[in-house]
Formats: sequence, structure tokens, C-alpha cells
Amino acid sequence: MPGDSFYITTPIYYVNGTPHIGHAYTTVAADTAARWQRCKGREVLFLTGTDEHGQKVLEAAEARGLTPRAHVDDMVPAWRAMMDKLQVTHDRFIRTTDADHEALVRAILTKLHDAGDIYFDTYEGWYLVTDEVFVTELERTEQLESGAQSEDAYRWVSEGNYFFKMGKYQQALLDHIAAHPDFIQPEARRNEVLGFLRRELTDLCISRPKERMSWGVALPFDDKYVCYVWFDALINYLTGTGFQLDGDASYQKWWPVDYHLVGKDILTTHSVYWTTMLLALGVDLPQHIYAHGWWVSSDGDKMSKSRGNVIDVDLLVQEFGLDATRYFFLREARFGADSGFSFEGYMGRYNADLANDLGNLAHRALSMTTKWLGGVVPQRAAPDAALHATAVAAVETFASQMDRLQFQQALVALWDVVKAGNKHIDTTQPWALNKAGETAALAAVMRDVLEVCALVGTLMAPVLPSKGPELVAKLGASPPTEWLTELLAGRRVLDGLTAGSALQTGDPLFPRHRELPPKIAALFAVEEPEEVPLPEIDWIAYDDFAKVELKVGTVLSADIHPNADKLLVLQVELGEARPRTICAGIKSVFEPAALVGRSVVVVANLAPRTLRGVASEGMILAAGGADVVDLVSAAAPPGAPVR
Ligand code: MSP
Repeated sequence: MPGDSFYITTPIYYVNGTPHIGHAYTTVAADTAARWQRCKGREVLFLTGTDEHGQKVLEAAEARGLTPRAHVDDMVPAWRAMMDKLQVTHDRFIRTTDADHEALVRAILTKLHDAGDIYFDTYEGWYLVTDEVFVTELERTEQLESGAQSEDAYRWVSEGNYFFKMGKYQQALLDHIAAHPDFIQPEARRNEVLGFLRRELTDLCISRPKERMSWGVALPFDDKYVCYVWFDALINYLTGTGFQLDGDASYQKWWPVDYHLVGKDILTTHSVYWTTMLLALGVDLPQHIYAHGWWVSSDGDKMSKSRGNVIDVDLLVQEFGLDATRYFFLREARFGADSGFSFEGYMGRYNADLANDLGNLAHRALSMTTKWLGGVVPQRAAPDAALHATAVAAVETFASQMDRLQFQQALVALWDVVKAGNKHIDTTQPWALNKAGETAALAAVMRDVLEVCALVGTLMAPVLPSKGPELVAKLGASPPTEWLTELLAGRRVLDGLTAGSALQTGDPLFPRHRELPPKIAALFAVEEPEEVPLPEIDWIAYDDFAKVELKVGTVLSADIHPNADKLLVLQVELGEARPRTICAGIKSVFEPAALVGRSVVVVANLAPRTLRGVASEGMILAAGGADVVDLVSAAAPPGAPVR
């Protein structure tokens, strides 16, 4: 039985760039889980924020010609704006430059240093500049061989640094993982971590000399160094609870955190670095670390700024709305697995699920009741048994899957009841009941489907924070808040509305998109190249060209024609029984002796013709028209065909 508080975190985002859908995804997932737990009556702490120290951020600042401080202050509003646009309900937006966080980092560094868990040593080895980590020779070789990195990503360094005794806690961590099978989720990720821990865990370098990288929390015991960005960043999860080394235990209201949500690329830092840091501090380990997959482009590449294939969240929200964007994230991808993003897929999901299934159900329920039953919620009769059973099952599955962050499965389960609602209308044919004057039967059907809308609108609120409540509002007096508790306990299923409440029709909840909105379509518009016409030519058919037989030849001799000023008489070897005699008008350009041994291309099937008394048995190709510039030649043996 969970306690009545729930603590969830997202990774804190690097402010070396602006947010894209990958970042929005984790944030929406955490927000949905937070909202869901609040709906269930739990007190929630939802922490997100920005990771502002370290080399990446420093480089981004330098590239803009700003101080790191000015750069981070300038970047943070874009991250806050992304969260506002998606109606993210974080309780704190933490920045690693916040004073309370920096103070806690310093206090933890001091404590671990005093305890002997941080020590000084000289390190000589490879440094992976992009990831700001030291790597072993073996890791470097593996990364190079897999193509993950290139040679220039590494620098050989030899410097004094401070190290955290991570290796000392390897066994304790392994024991914890063994004793808590759902500590690292999904299971495949747990196995990945166990695989990583099969090798001996080395100690972690947690300092950077200021002369090389100055943007970070200065080490309290040596101000020539700053703290390694990950060691600093991970501590944010404790800062967010109000944790203080010498403070009271009030942080335990939130700690141990229920879920750290992370992308699969930062699993090791969380499940190995962070957990060993906590073990060293004597603080309980997180309850769950959940690694989700990546949004990849339709050709399978991870989306990232450096690859230039990122999808702008603003555009999705602007054109389809924040609810549609949130719904897509959670419905399209299994939480944990990678998923490909395409605008067509996005629009298809929107049209099928939101415009068609849910939008239609709401529209039919509201408009039919308005047309035939005076626009108020009809009296409750016994609900249709099959529809009721479907609804009970859907609520149960939805709730248990939401508890386990299985958003996709939760939504699929809820759609069973949406689809059943539409089917109920199709099979009971309210229009026929109305025509036949069967008002009681009509009222029962309409109440049932209005109730389905109320149920879906209410349960969907954590996913659709704007449209969920809007749908419920269209159903007249909102269901009382305690209804949700009843519903989740399997009571009052299809019984949340109040008879007589006035319905509101109005615009559809999710207008259908027949084609991609112009701003999105414009991203794919390919500029048609201007059509440049070919010159006017007296074309010949291919068959005519194919009649010409071209061959490579070698000039054996060249003599001046006895009766013509411009001609030379060549003997050309074509690999036949005897050389050919060919007259060519090239005397003004070539010394006869210079032609001997040259390769030429000969029209070999041109009918022989006598030129001023000498029979010419072919023609050699020359470039330059009337004023010949050069002969066409080919580096191939005599007789080789030219095509
Ligand atoms: N600053 C670190 C986290 C420190 S947590 C103490 C960091 N920041 S990040 O901005 O690079 O990434 C933050 C999160 O965004 C990671 O969980 C990462 O997996 C996620 N995503 C970035 N691109 C992504 C996709 N294309 N798809 C899904 N999520 C991805 O790492």
C-alpha cells in the first residue's frame, strides 16, 4: 500500500540548447504520473529543472560570446515556456545554479571527503571530451569500433584529480538490485545495468581542474577544482526534497523518491553513479529508476540538435493543441521502447483516436440528447450490462497501468470503453428509438453514453488537462470530486452525472485534420527546380546511334598525304588482320611523328571512301570541330569497343 506522498523527477535538462520533443516527452510523462497520483488523493512532489554547469554549457556560452551565467539565465525561459505550453504542473523548477543546491553539493563533497570516500590521485588516460568522462582503453576501443565515437573525440590527459570511491559500493549495489527486482525498469534495462556491473567498477573522477574547465561548483577542500557536472547534477534530486546533511528528517516525507524518470542514455549515471553516491551518504536508494526509450526520426536516428532532425514542440502544440501532443506521446510509444516520429503518424493518431473515436462519441452523445431529449442529462435507468462490464474492466486496467507508468496500455484499455460507447449507439440506433417514440429506451441509451463521456473525460484529465475537463464541463454539472475515488474503487461506474443538468454542445473537441497544417506541410515543401529546356537539336533515334561501331585504335604510323594539304594518312591498329589506313584532317595541329603510339577512337564501320587518291578505311574522333584541339583517346587495348 503506497504512502500518501508521491515523489517523481525528470532528468534536469542541459541548457546548451532549446527543448525538443525528446525533452517534452519525459516531462509530459512525469507530469501525467504526477497528475494521476494527485487525482488519487496523494500529495505529490514533482521536480524538474535545468542542468547548468559543465563543459557543454560552457562551450555553448562561449560560442555565443556570453559569460556562462548570462547564457544560462538567457536559456532557462525557453525551458519554462515549453513546460507552460504543455501545462506541466511541476512543484519546483530546480536550477543547479540555485543557491540551496550549490550549498548541498558543497556539503556532500565535504562529508564524503572527510569520510575518505573522496581522495586525490593523478590520473593519466583517455578523456572523452563530448561526454566529459574518463574512459578506459577498452571502452575507447569499443566505442571506436562500434562507430559511436571518432578518434578526435578523445584527449590523452595526465592530471591530478579527486575521485569518489565508487568501486567500494559495487557489491552493495548488486545486492540491492538483487533484492529489489523492480528497482530498475523496464527489466531489459535492469539486465543492462547488471551487465555493466559484471566488470569491476572503477572509482569516479569527480573534479575538473579550473584551468581546463571553470564552470561548476568549486570543491570546498580545493578551490583549484570544480565539481564534475554529473556529481553536481544528480544531487538535485535531494535538494528538491529540502534535504540537508545536518537538518531534520522532514525530507523523508518525499524520500525515497518513487520514480526517477530517465532516458535510456543516462541509465548508468543514475543507477550506478547516483546510487553509489547515496550508499556512501547512507541515504536510502530510490524506489524505482525507469528508463524510457527515444523518439527517433522516421529513418531511425535519435533526434538531437546536433543531428538537425529535432521536432519543434511549439509547432505541434500550435497546430494540434497541447492535449493532442500529450496524448500522442503517451499513446504512441510503449513507455520504455523507442518510437519513430512522423507528422503523418502524428496526424493519423490524432484523427483516429481523438477526432474520430472520442470526438465522435462526445458529439453524438451531446447532439442526440440535445435534439431529442431537451439537452439535459436524462434520468438514470439500469445501465446496459455489457457496456457497464466493459467500463468496469477498463477503469480497473487503466488505473493499474497508470500506477506502473504504462501509459500506452492504460489508454488502450480506456479506448475499449470509448469504442464500446460508439458501438452502443450504432446497435441501439437512438434515431430509430426517437422515431418510434420509445423515449424511456432512448433516455437510457443516451444516459449511458453521456456517462461513458464523463468517465473518459475524468480519467483522461491527467493526460488531457485541458480537453478532459472541457468534455466533463459539456456534460453539465461536473461530477463531484469524490466520484473519482468511488470510480476507482469500482463503484458508481457509469453513474457520475446528475439528471437534469444542462448540456453544452458547441465546437467539436478535436476538429478533424484532413491534411497536414500548412506550417507543417511547408517543412517538407521541395522547391521544384526551374525547367531549363534542352537546345534545339536534330535528334537521332537510339537505333541509329547503335549502328555506329566505335573502337579503340593505336596509331602505328603517320605520313603527309601526297595530294592534300590538310590531311595526314595514318596506319591504325584495331586488333584486326591488318591495320587500317585512315585519312584525317589534322595536319595543321599534329606533327606526324608525335602521333605514333597514340591511342585513338575510330568509327570502325564507316564505309571506306577514297580521299584524293588514298582509300580511307574509317574515321578517327577528334574534339574541337573545324579547329581540332585534341584527339579522343581511351586507355584500352586496340580493338576494345567504345559504347
Ligand atoms: N543533464 C543531463 C541529465 C542530468 S539528470 C541529473 C542530460 N540532459 S539532456 O538535456 O541531454 O537530456 C535530458 C533527457 O532528455 C534525457 O533523459 C534524454 O534521454 C532525453 N532525451 C533527449 N533526446 C531524446 C529523444 N530524442 N527522445 C527521448 N528522450 C530523449 O542528459
